[in-house]
Amino acid sequence: MVSDPVLAASLATLPPPGIIVDHRLITIGDEHALLSEEAGAFRRSAVQVRRASGAARIVARALLDRLGHERVALPKSPAGPPIWPKGVLGSLAHDFRVAIAAVGTTGSVAGIGIDIEPAQPLSPDLLELVTTPRERAMIDSDPYHGRSFFVVKEAVYKAVFPLDRSFLEHHDVEVDLANRKATLRNGRVVDVRFCISTHLVALAFF
Ligand SMILES: CC(C)(COP(=O)(O)OP(=O)(O)OC[C@H]1O[C@@H](n2cnc3c(N)ncnc32)[C@H](O)[C@@H]1OP(=O)(O)O)[C@@H](O)C(=O)NCCC(=O)NCCS
Repeated sequence: MVSDPVLAASLATLPPPGIIVDHRLITIGDEHALLSEEAGAFRRSAVQVRRASGAARIVARALLDRLGHERVALPKSPAGPPIWPKGVLGSLAHDFRVAIAAVGTTGSVAGIGIDIEPAQPLSPDLLELVTTPRERAMIDSDPYHGRSFFVVKEAVYKAVFPLDRSFLEHHDVEVDLANRKATLRNGRVVDVRFCISTHLVALAFF
């Protein structure tokens, strides 16, 4: 089995029109899914890393196929994000068990970021590093005591980095979970969507 029905049901609630999202349970052999154009960036990586990145690309390629792009290579750029075919953009993420991808077209969005984390509370010693004082005042809105803010901020970073090309600290992003928005220090406002099941998954887009 390469999918988790509970996670699949939760992910189905995540994307707005114009963005498609899917997942795959990382499986032995997924490392062989890396195409020759992609493999170079991972030649020094451990097999678990190549496997997770291969799994994420299996998911992304299936989504791209739905948009009419067949068997597209998604090489990792030197700065980190994958290089998407013209007219398309998206984002990849993986934990040790699951790989996910989100894809949309440049006609409907200018940036997409996705992140996945195990559904466990954030370690208390990381709370101040990850959350701003205003977010900590709203911590009751996060059943995972800060981890929801963490996963949203990582998704936001992935959404804006390909355009803004600047590093962000966690405190450079202020998340309003109730209104599903994140505001960056540079003033950019990003929409966020969030779902909780076997994992916490955040999707950011603008
Ligand atoms: C980019 C980053 C968020 C990825 O997080 P991670 O937990 O290491 O890994 P994930 O599994 O969630 O995501 C990995 C995927 O992100 C993508 N990615 C890597 N760097 C990226 C970047 N700068 N921008 C967008 N996407 C990026 C890649 O597709 C990668 O998959 P691949 O290696 O198979 O190609 C992290 O490595 C990083 O650079 N963080 C620093 C910035 C930050 O987190 N600031 C605080 C939040 S604002």
